[in-house]
Amino acid sequence: MNIAEAKANLLSKGFLDVDIDLHVDLFQEIEQLKKHKNAIILAHYYQEPDIQDIADYIGDSLGLAKQASQTDAAIILFAGVHFMAETAKILNPDKKVLLPDLKAGCSLADSAPTELFKQFKAKHPDHVVISYINCTAEIKALSDIICTSGNAEKIIESVPGNTPILFAPDRNLGAYLNKKTGRNMLLWNGACQVHEIFSVEKITRLKIRHPEAKLLAHPECEESVLAMADFIGSTTQLLKYSHTDSAQSYIVATETGILHQMQKDNPGKAFIPAPPNNNCACNDCPYMKLNTLEKVYNTLLYELPEITMEEDLRIAAKKPLDRMLAISKAAGLIG
Ligand code: 13P
Ligand code: SF4
Repeated sequence: MNIAEAKANLLSKGFLDVDIDLHVDLFQEIEQLKKHKNAIILAHYYQEPDIQDIADYIGDSLGLAKQASQTDAAIILFAGVHFMAETAKILNPDKKVLLPDLKAGCSLADSAPTELFKQFKAKHPDHVVISYINCTAEIKALSDIICTSGNAEKIIESVPGNTPILFAPDRNLGAYLNKKTGRNMLLWNGACQVHEIFSVEKITRLKIRHPEAKLLAHPECEESVLAMADFIGSTTQLLKYSHTDSAQSYIVATETGILHQMQKDNPGKAFIPAPPNNNCACNDCPYMKLNTLEKVYNTLLYELPEITMEEDLRIAAKKPLDRMLAISKAAGLIG
């Protein structure tokens, strides 16, 4: 099969994103487009390795929000999921914010529908609402402060101890934070489908085969997995720990994309993805992995798809985000 036939074959199967000359060096073209259009690529650690490698900044949700709030670029291409690109738009109304695939959603954000959340909040009018950044702009607009897994403890500490808190949407992160802070936050019953898939049994077996390996876990994991972990943190915190810690091997209980940076930063160490509870490879986030290098190229070239938002919603959603950024700055978590 020659290149033209291969391309026609792929197109006939609906892979429209490959409608790019197969001789094109996507890395080189993307670099040129970035320069030519004054564009920046912000990528989350869960993106495929090629996208991480052409990004201007790779980070966790806190780092990405900070970068989005400080960039001078005219165009932000967000290689991540919808709520992340939306956050960038909330912070940058005058910039063009692009997301390579608008279907890149998030099961956690989906677990908090606006109307149900409004009703829940109305039943607890005395509660301060802290929402994890993995939520829609509508939920952000209904919140008092936003947090990420990298700053949640500091955000909670900023609320006086006698003030009740409603935490949404992640019940696992909420329960973990209740334990860490000694608070008794009221939790919305949401979860991430990727972080709930890890199998305690399979991790236990892996630990028996690799007794020297430390278990690193993201706080979106279930309590049973967190109870086994040697270190718990946001993706950036897990990456930093794997770099400074003296162990030589790790089992990693979060989305597999993070292993790319862990391996790059620590070529001599071994990183083993924590297994899901069946053979589905569900420890890959199906939303994050909708973005491809081809889509990144097309998105930069055509400046589509773009994130747009009603101005009223944007202003309401910006307030709790600004509070998060201010508290994080005061706590020295961001520069
Ligand atoms: P962090 O990168 O902030 O740890 O978040 C993980 C995540 O689930 C993003 O969707
Ligand atoms: Fe959402 Fe989970 Fe995917 Fe993160 S890993 S984007 S929380 S579904």
